[in-house]
Amino acid sequence: MNLRFALILVGVASALAADGDKNKAPKIWDENALKDWATPITGVNARPNHYTEAEYYAAPVDDLRTYPVYHPDFEPAGYLDSIRNRGAKVMIEQGKARTKAEWITAGSLVWDELDVPLVRTSDARIIDFFRSREALKKYPVRIDKGGRLIDFRWVVEKDGGLKLTSRECAACHTQLLPDGTIIRGGQAHFPPPPTPPMVGMLFSAFSVPKEIGGELSSPGEGLYAQFGVPWLADDIHKNMLTMPIPEAAKLGDADTPGTIARFNGSPYWTTKIPSLISVRYNRYLDATGTHKNRGPEDIARYAVLVGVADDGSIGPYKFFTDYQRKLRFRSSDDALYALGMFITYGLEEPKNPNQVDALSGRGAQVFQRSGCAGCHSGSDYSNGMLIAADGFVPPDGELSKGLNIMRGMKIGTDTGLALKTRKGTGFYKVPSLRGLWHRTFIEHSGSIASLEEWFGRERLRADYVPGGRKGPLGDKHAVPGHEFGLDLGVEDKRALIAFLKTL
Ligand code: HEC
Ligand code: HEC
Repeated sequence: MNLRFALILVGVASALAADGDKNKAPKIWDENALKDWATPITGVNARPNHYTEAEYYAAPVDDLRTYPVYHPDFEPAGYLDSIRNRGAKVMIEQGKARTKAEWITAGSLVWDELDVPLVRTSDARIIDFFRSREALKKYPVRIDKGGRLIDFRWVVEKDGGLKLTSRECAACHTQLLPDGTIIRGGQAHFPPPPTPPMVGMLFSAFSVPKEIGGELSSPGEGLYAQFGVPWLADDIHKNMLTMPIPEAAKLGDADTPGTIARFNGSPYWTTKIPSLISVRYNRYLDATGTHKNRGPEDIARYAVLVGVADDGSIGPYKFFTDYQRKLRFRSSDDALYALGMFITYGLEEPKNPNQVDALSGRGAQVFQRSGCAGCHSGSDYSNGMLIAADGFVPPDGELSKGLNIMRGMKIGTDTGLALKTRKGTGFYKVPSLRGLWHRTFIEHSGSIASLEEWFGRERLRADYVPGGRKGPLGDKHAVPGHEFGLDLGVEDKRALIAFLKTL
C-alpha cells in the first residue's frame, strides 16, 4: 500500500471515530470566542459591545417544549387538553454527552420548537383570534399542508398554564411552497400588511419601559433604538425620534414580505431573509459579514445574539436603559449547541428539480469564462471573502486583523446597509450560490426576485421598479452594482441561469 493511500485511510478512520465520539455542549457565550468574533463597524471603528459572560449566564434558562397551532379545520379532537395534560416539559436534556448525529437530531427538535418566551400570552382576545376560522380568513397567516400555523406555537408553562407563543428562528427561516410543503431553512415570505391587529398585540410585549413602572417608549423612540446610528451626522434614522405615530407605523410596515428591517439594520435598507441551508458554505454571517462563521458554535452564538443578547451598543453609544437591556431569559447551552449543529449540518437542500443537461453544461462554461468563479469559487461557490462597498477604504492594522478582504475589488451594490446602519461593516460578503434555485429574493436587500432580473441591465436604471423589495422611499429605484454577466448574449444568459439553477 502506498503511503498516500495509507494516510487517506488513517484520515477516514479518525473522521469516523470523531463522528462516533460523544461530546458535551461547549460554553456558548464564551469571552474568548466573543472577543474578535464581530466585524468592526465603520464610523465608530470599533466592534459592537457584547453582554459579559456573567451577565449572560445570570439569566434564567427557559427551554420549554412547544407544540403546533392548528387551523380549526385541522385540529385533532381533544388536542389542547392532551397538550395541557403533558405539563411543562424541557426541550432537551442538559449536560448530556451526544454524538454528532445525536446533536443534529436534538437540534432538529429545537429548530421546530424554540419560541420567543417574552411574547407568550394567555390573553383570550389573542387566543380567540388564532382559533377563529373567520378571523384567519380575514387576516391570512401562513399555514402548511397539515393545517399547522407555521409561525406560532402552543406552550405549557411551569405553572401548567397553556399559552400561545411565536416561533423563533423557524418563523423567518421556513419557506412555504404554493402546494403547502415547507423547506426548513428556506426564505420566508410573510403575508403582506395589514398585519392582524392581534399579532401586533402579541409582539407589543417587546416594548419595555425605560424604568420599572415607567411609560412605554413612543413608536418612534422604539424604532430609533432599533435603527439609530448616532455617529452619522446625516443619519436618516434621526427623524424617527419625532415621527408621528401613523408615519412610524407605515415605516414599520414597509418591508416587502421576504425582507426584514432587522435590529441594527434599517427600514430604508432592509435585508432579505437568507436561506440558512447554505450557511455552512459561508465564512461570514449576514450580508455585510457582521460576524465570522467558524462553525456550529458561532451559529449558536448568533442565535443568542438575535434571540436575546444584542442591545445594539457600540463604543460609547447606547440605545437601552439598564432595565430595558436586562436579560429576562436564555436558552441552555445544550439547546443552542444542538441548534447550531442542526443549522450547520442538518438543514438539507430539498431535491432539486433542475437537472444537469447540455444547456446547464454550456452555462458552466459561461460561468468560468465570465470570471464568476473568481469570487464564487470552488464547490462552495464562494471564496469566503469580504468586498468593500463603494466609498469604503478598509482600515489596516488591528481592526482588520483576521478579516478576509478582497482588496482592490469593487462590487458597486447599494451602499446604504454597509455604510449607514449599525450592520455597517463597510463590506458585502461573497455569498455561496448553493441552493440558488429555491431562493425567492436575491441581492442583499432582496430587491431582485429572479435570476433573469439579476442579469438584466434594466435594473440599473433610476426609474426601475424592482421585482422584489421596493422600500419606503417609493417603488422606483435602481438596483446598482454586481454588473457581472449583464452584457452576455441571450443564449449565454439562458445557459448561465440554467447552470445556476442546478447548484
Ligand atoms: C424576524 C425574522 C428572523 C428571525 C426570527 C430570525 N432570523 Fe435569522 N435572519 C433574518 C434576516 C433578515 C437575516 C439577514 C440579516 C443580514 O443579512 O444582515 C438573517 C440572517 C441569519 C443568519 C446569517 C445567514 C447568512 O448566510 O449570512 C443566521 C445564521 C441566522 N439568521 C440564524 C437565525 C437563528 C438561529 C434564529 C433564531 C434564534 C434566527 N435567525 C431568527 C431574519 C430572521
Ligand atoms: C468580484 C467578486 C464577484 C464576482 C466576479 C461575481 N460575484 Fe456574484 N456576488 C458577489 C457579491 C459580493 C455578492 C453579494 C452582493 C450584494 O448582495 O450586495 C454577489 C451576489 C451574487 C448573486 C446573488 C446571491 C444572493 O442570494 O443574493 C448571484 C446569483 C451571483 N452573485 C452570481 C454571480 C455570477 C453568475 C457571476 C458571474 C457572471 C458573479 N456572481 C460574479 C461577488 C461576485
